[in-house]
Order: sequence, then structure tokens, then C-alpha cells
Amino acid sequence: MDQTTPQRVVVMTGATSGLGAHALRRIAAQPDTRVVVGARGSGRTAPHGVEVRPLDLASLESVRAFADAVISRLDGARIDMLVLNAGMQTADTGRRSADGYELTFAVNHLAHYLLARLLAPHLADQGRLVITTSDTHDPAIAPIAPKTLDPQILAHPRKSGFGTGMRAYSASKLCNLLTAQSFAALDEIKARRITVIAFNPGLTGGTSLSRDASPAMRAVVTLLMRTVFRVVGRFRPEYVMGTPERSGELLADASLGNLTPPPGRIYLSLVKGEPTFPDPSELARSQDARDLLWRESAVMVGID
Ligand SMILES: NC(=O)c1ccc[n+]([C@@H]2O[C@H](COP(=O)([O-])OP(=O)(O)OC[C@H]3O[C@@H](n4cnc5c(N)ncnc54)[C@H](OP(=O)(O)O)[C@@H]3O)[C@@H](O)[C@H]2O)c1
Repeated sequence: MDQTTPQRVVVMTGATSGLGAHALRRIAAQPDTRVVVGARGSGRTAPHGVEVRPLDLASLESVRAFADAVISRLDGARIDMLVLNAGMQTADTGRRSADGYELTFAVNHLAHYLLARLLAPHLADQGRLVITTSDTHDPAIAPIAPKTLDPQILAHPRKSGFGTGMRAYSASKLCNLLTAQSFAALDEIKARRITVIAFNPGLTGGTSLSRDASPAMRAVVTLLMRTVFRVVGRFRPEYVMGTPERSGELLADASLGNLTPPPGRIYLSLVKGEPTFPDPSELARSQDARDLLWRESAVMVGID
């Protein structure tokens, strides 16, 4: 890189709407910061100076092309922060990615797993890898959360119908947490003092996450948020809804290094908009589950 190149390089997914768009505004406003965003579709707007490159996480070929483009554009420079925030929810598990995997698992987990594997060797020493997860991975918070892990079933579910989309979402967020744990445990990541964070924004209203839900389902969720969640939120703060501005602010803080979990911890969970560092679910802490997901995901995306 030449003398005019900014010193800090950020690569981000999920920056075009919701809490990620708020995080991007904060990150892009930092001095001497070059931001490359992966986004689907064409003609996406981004804050001044942000470079938008094509990326459809529903296609592993698109993920590879994006990683190649980032590496070649960096021209030997290192990535200081890799922020993997994109995510989606579907009504059921009937949809498939370009590679034939269940869409939620493919977009939220497999694509980010591949992107992180391809770009991790290009992270700067003392850099950051931030992966957005959700507390819905945890059965103690969301009753639908997985209690066992079978990556093959997640990739090729046998059932599709009411409720399966939310279960697939919750399982994909468990996969994000397990993937973050796996990266944090790698010798190279430790030796290069790269900070890995699994970021849970907590229940955040006003985003586009449920855009694929039917109008009836959206109405049910809105009703739940305005009634049941408000009452439950008095006893369970995880059910108190936050704003995309606040969640985005803390995603930016976690990415920029203003907010770091204590030593030995990687899970940063917002509760009522404030950072907490709890244990994730028991399954998310399982080394067997972590290793199984890592191995099977590598086969699914076609890397060693
Ligand atoms: N909202 C919540 O209550 C909540 C709670 C816990 C965790 N989260 C997590 O927070 C993250 C952000 O969610 P949000 O609530 O801000 O939702 P959102 O407004 O729907 O934002 C999702 C982002 O992901 C991108 N994305 C989705 N599918 C993609 C694909 N195939 N290829 C490339 N990009 C894709 C979207 O791009 P487009 O602009 O092209 O759609 C958008 O930038 C997600 O990982 C979500 O799981 C959210």
C-alpha cells in the first residue's frame, strides 16, 4: 500500500440496513479508516468513502469472489477488523442457497464461516474478528433454541413448516457462536493476539430482519412485542427491546476496540442496551460441538 492509504482497514457484511448500517456510519466516520462492505444487489448507497463490493451470502461462489476482490484490492495490506454482521430469518426452512443448503444456515453460518476462513490469514496482528450472534441460540432465553447440534440436519432439514424458520435462525446463531469459539481457540489467532468477539445485539426493533415473514406473522410478532414481551421484560431483561442505533453503536465499539470482553471470554451480549459478558449456552461451550461444526462446515464449503 502506498503512503496515501489509510492505516486502518475494516471489512464488513450486513452494513446496508438495520443495526449494521448504524455501526457502519460510526466506523466510517473514524479518521484514517478504509471500509470495504460486501453487499448484494447493485447501486447500494454507503457513507462517503466506503467501498461497496458485490457479495451475496446465499452463494459460496460469491463469497469466494468477494474474498478474492478484497485480498487483491488490499494489495498486501492487512485487515484490522473483520465484522461479520449480516443475517436473515425466513418463515420456514423450505428455501435453499445456490449450493443447495438450507438458506438460513447457508447465509448466516456457512457463508461467514468460509469468508472468515479465507480472510483470517489476512488479518492484522492484534486485529479483530467480530461475528454477530444472538441470545436466541440459548435455550435458557429462547425455548426454541437447539439442545443438540447436527450440521447435516441444519444443512438439509427434513421438516419445513410453521416454526421451522425461527428454529433454523436460532441454530444458525449457535453456529456463529461456535465458529467464533473455534477461531478464538486457534493457535495462530492466539499467537497473533487477534481478538475474537461473538456479539449479541439483543432484541432490536426497527430492523429488517423479519422482512421475509408473512404480514400475518409480522402482525403476531408486533403484537407479542407490544404485550407479552413488555410484561416478560420486567422479569427477563433480555426481552426488553433495544434500538438499532444503540445496538449499532456497540457493534461499532466492539469492532473498533472500544469494547472488549474480559480475558478468556468472547461473548458480548447486550442486555437493555448495555454490554454484559455472560457464558453462552452449554452447547455453545461444547468443544465437541465446536469441532464437529468446524469439520463439517469445511467439507460443505469445500476447504481443508
Ligand atoms: N434485530 C434483532 O432483534 C437481532 C437480535 C439478535 C441478533 N441479530 C443479528 O443482528 C444482525 C443484523 O440484523 P438486523 O436486525 O440489523 O437485520 P437487517 O436490518 O435485516 O440487516 C441484515 C443485514 O444482512 C444483510 N444480508 C442478509 N442476507 C444477505 C445476503 N444473502 N447477502 C449479503 N447480505 C445479506 C442485509 O443486506 P440487504 O440490505 O441486502 O438486505 C442487511 O445488511 C444479524 O446477524 C441478526 O441475526 C438481530
